[in-house]
Amino acid sequence: MNHLDEIRAKINIEDIVGGFVQLKKAGRNLKGLCPFHNDSRPSFMVSPEKGIAYCFSCNTGGDIFKFIQLIEKVDFPGAVSILAEKAGVRLPEFKPEAHNEKLRILKANDVATNFFANQLKESKKGMEYFIGRGLSEATIKEFQLGLAPDSYTALRDHMKSADFDEKLLLDAGLISQRSIADKSTYGRFRNRYMFPIHDQQGNAVGFGGRIIGDGEPKYLNSPDTPVYNKSFVLYGLTMAKNAIKKEDLAIFVEGYMDVIAAHQAGTKNVIATSGTALTAPQLKLIKRYTNNIAFAFDADSAGMEATKRAIELAQEAKLNIRIIQIPDGKDPDECIQKSPEAWKEAIKNSVKAMDFYFAHAFSIYDQNDLDGKKAILNLLLPLIKQASTNMEQNEHLQRLAYELKTDAQYLWQDMKNLAQKKVYRPASKTEVSAPQKETFSREEYLLGFILEHPDLYEIVHSNLIDVTSFDAASEKIYKALKKVYNSRSVIDVEQVRAELSEEDQERLNVLPMLVEEYYPDFSQEAAKKEVTSLIRQINMKNIRASQKEFEFKIRAAQDPGERTLLLNQYSQILKLANKI
Ligand code: UTP
Ligand code: MN
Repeated sequence: MNHLDEIRAKINIEDIVGGFVQLKKAGRNLKGLCPFHNDSRPSFMVSPEKGIAYCFSCNTGGDIFKFIQLIEKVDFPGAVSILAEKAGVRLPEFKPEAHNEKLRILKANDVATNFFANQLKESKKGMEYFIGRGLSEATIKEFQLGLAPDSYTALRDHMKSADFDEKLLLDAGLISQRSIADKSTYGRFRNRYMFPIHDQQGNAVGFGGRIIGDGEPKYLNSPDTPVYNKSFVLYGLTMAKNAIKKEDLAIFVEGYMDVIAAHQAGTKNVIATSGTALTAPQLKLIKRYTNNIAFAFDADSAGMEATKRAIELAQEAKLNIRIIQIPDGKDPDECIQKSPEAWKEAIKNSVKAMDFYFAHAFSIYDQNDLDGKKAILNLLLPLIKQASTNMEQNEHLQRLAYELKTDAQYLWQDMKNLAQKKVYRPASKTEVSAPQKETFSREEYLLGFILEHPDLYEIVHSNLIDVTSFDAASEKIYKALKKVYNSRSVIDVEQVRAELSEEDQERLNVLPMLVEEYYPDFSQEAAKKEVTSLIRQINMKNIRASQKEFEFKIRAAQDPGERTLLLNQYSQILKLANKI
């Protein structure tokens, strides 16, 4: 038994929580008012069986350690020492876990950044390129821009002479292997201008490399590595975060050069995604700094699609969204080169997302023709319906009625008749005790069911399409389930647990409680029905999302071979969609 297990064995969660919250028995669990938000009905559940306390209203809680962390506002080691003392357990000396590989990769990226920067300094042509694009030497230095020489060996050999072995360089995505048969290695980035990508602490976690001259791909990015996950990183955030807080606004642009040019022009609250369309985790990251964002995407059709998709995501993340329209069909970098004032003016003239959609709808359809009017309604009504208050909806509908020369009351009717928005509520909730929770996703409910009824996993295994939309923690649980099932054809929850980190185990514990809370006394048969229905809904959602993703990628693909490949995959998806 390790000391954490020893503490758990000696302390009951209900005693710990009971010191802060009055608890009443409720079936297998205990309930009380949540200490973490202003609770009017008891939403805080304590499960002595599972050793967990969790609020289903504000989604806060965990095991005894987590509870103490939250209520005493201490970190994990702090909570351990408080509880160890209560339990009379002597703690071994605390040794931080060695994140050796990650640290080595960060170090390697650092060395590579310097290598590229020195190569650039020594290349007259390279410096001329950036200076020709309007960058000052200070900017080049600030963004640690560099150059990867046209050589298969230069970077690799430089890194090896700095004592990094090939395995680490492979893991860092700095070198590649020729093939499975031929394990000889070569530098990943060659003949490219290099843009180091930093995390918000300022560590270089990856690189984007722009081809020198013409060639494909135009930008080559680092693969995901133990320190770099594209979906979680925003280019330029280290340099931008103070300005974002100060201005209370984050401006998203598409490209590396757009970020850099904007910073140099004095608008420092500018960031970009790198090598992906905008993702939900990136928005979550930005929410730490501000609730206001603006998109200044390229004024081409791919940029328009990117904008629409980004608005949808940002609405889900409850951010206030504005759209910056760049004059003359340029990207921000080109606009700034020509006139920094025009760029600043464009920022000032940003419009709300709904104004952008109105302008878009009225520019592509004819508002004087009945078919055109219908098309405009089809585009705008679902968006208006998403507005959170009746007042806003009314405002938009009045305006739409005016533009279409009709009466708002018809539009209200049409909008109401649209299919219900897909907020998930359990189909057969038998007891309403905590406030309705919409913050949990279908994916989380599905996992909750599986963990409560592991034998139902088989249905997931044979029906869930494996392009999944799980959030990071749930995805780990899903993968663990899959792994255990693949090796034994049956789910043993303890084995699933063994696959997970401590933090993810916490999630694993909470998810079945979600089902217990919302479906007391659920029969196996009813659970099976619910699982089947959840899978179908998740599949539909994923297919729609990957359809969009592919449309975006196909537009962005420059290499004809890549485009054909994408088109093929896309038609597979369409086939799947038809099947469901
Ligand atoms: P753009 O093609 O608009 O390039 O891609 P850009 O930023 O204007 O570059 P310059 O001005 O021609 O040098 C926008 C962004 O999309 C990603 C990169 O992050 C790029 O900055 N991208 C583009 C890729 O990841 N791969 C590509 O092949 C192309
Ligand atoms: Mn550009």
